[in-house]
Amino acid sequence: MFVRINNVNLTKIDPENDSSYIMRPRKRTEFSRLREQAGLTLEEAEALLEVSPRTAYRYEDGTSRVPRLALKTLKQTADRRLQECEAGKADFRFIDLFAGIGGLRLGFESIGGRCVFTSEWDPHSQQTYSLNFPDNHRINGDVREFSKNPDLIPEHDVLLAGFPCQPFSLAGVSKKNSLGRPHGFLCDTQGTLFFDTAQIIAHHRPAAFVLENVKNLESHDQGRTFATIMNVLQNELKYHVQHRVISSEPWVPQKRERVFIVGFREPSEFDFKSLKLPAAKSGPKLGTILQPHDEVDPKYTLTPRLWEYLQGYKAKHQAKGNGFGYSLFGPDDVARTLSARYYKDGSEVLIDQPGKRPRRLTPLECARLMGFDRGDRRFRIEVSDTQAYRQFGNAVVVPVVEFVAEAMKPHIETTLAASKQHSALPGPAFPVTRPVTPLAAAHG
Ligand SMILES: C[S@@+](CC[C@H](N)C(=O)[O-])C[C@H]1O[C@@H](n2cnc3c(N)ncnc32)[C@H](O)[C@@H]1O
Repeated sequence: MFVRINNVNLTKIDPENDSSYIMRPRKRTEFSRLREQAGLTLEEAEALLEVSPRTAYRYEDGTSRVPRLALKTLKQTADRRLQECEAGKADFRFIDLFAGIGGLRLGFESIGGRCVFTSEWDPHSQQTYSLNFPDNHRINGDVREFSKNPDLIPEHDVLLAGFPCQPFSLAGVSKKNSLGRPHGFLCDTQGTLFFDTAQIIAHHRPAAFVLENVKNLESHDQGRTFATIMNVLQNELKYHVQHRVISSEPWVPQKRERVFIVGFREPSEFDFKSLKLPAAKSGPKLGTILQPHDEVDPKYTLTPRLWEYLQGYKAKHQAKGNGFGYSLFGPDDVARTLSARYYKDGSEVLIDQPGKRPRRLTPLECARLMGFDRGDRRFRIEVSDTQAYRQFGNAVVVPVVEFVAEAMKPHIETTLAASKQHSALPGPAFPVTRPVTPLAAAHG
């Protein structure tokens, strides 16, 4: 069964809770790929090709054969878009691992970088990514396929990786603890992805890298996780590595702290700790990103049932003396961290509506809260609200990355200029050390 949301048809597989459904995107067709590469929504493609919504839908899901001329028109639009985007943008090449919806990429494009490789395995994130970034390369899936065979990744100067944070985040760790599951490096499916990233660095030896994760990475497992990461990067890969926790408050009305780990292949004068950040106090407030209440679809207002439940939950915990529960914000406030679970009940950031029950943020407000939609930059969202909330809740705040990238830029240039003179040494052909089973005891 198909439902149509934000112009996209999705297969409904599981009614979840209250208002959320898990959506599985339809099989991608040549038409849908080209349409996204052309940066067109389905409606815009209908207008361009002068076909009815029904015909466009049938092209999209592969039930009708697409005329050659229509594919050619889409391809030309996609090529034109790519050329416009790439004009004058080639100071250095970078790769985008665990790309999500491209938060790190936006930051490094802003300083003149060109993305030459992307890996992101979630089909919904791929959909948002390709709608927003015209590319001459496809979005690849599982990073582990490439860490096994890094030659498949093109040469690059900078490696970006926002490797999954659930194995290290406070919420992820307590959930895994309560289920008696391993976390951190011992979480088999996700915890070891740092080592896959390290293996790719070892092979390609880019001039610089940026790794990004939750602040809790530094203290996870009493600091042992972070010490292992730094040991691999500094002692095995021999990079010059610095790290810093940065909160997004100076740039967006959200308190979101992330650790950025920056490494340079050669010694550099980049000094992360002394980098002066803008003052958090002078940062923007929620009023700058909120849509007027009367423009917001009533579906974002909490249902009476959910609102009653959240109030009851908070009262119960307050009586026990702890602070669990929803948080309500107005235009003069700064929001708490938007999480990937925001789609569930929105409780961490509810917007007060005078005379009404509170509402969730809209996906557009989330795009602004994360700095994706900002200034002249528009960010396109075609996925369901559930997926949009997940994608923004997992993302990095773009202006923070722009700030870090700007600070790194002269040092990337110096490293690249030096390696043109003395061609960089080939990467060491050794496998990066991964944790062995006995660590399990240490991780509890
Ligand atoms: C913390 S998010 C990164 C978000 C990104 N920095 C952004 O701004 O959107 C981690 C991403 O890694 C992806 N991921 C997890 N395991 C992966 C794997 N093995 N291969 C490729 N992508 C993976 C997830 O789907 C998720 O989108």
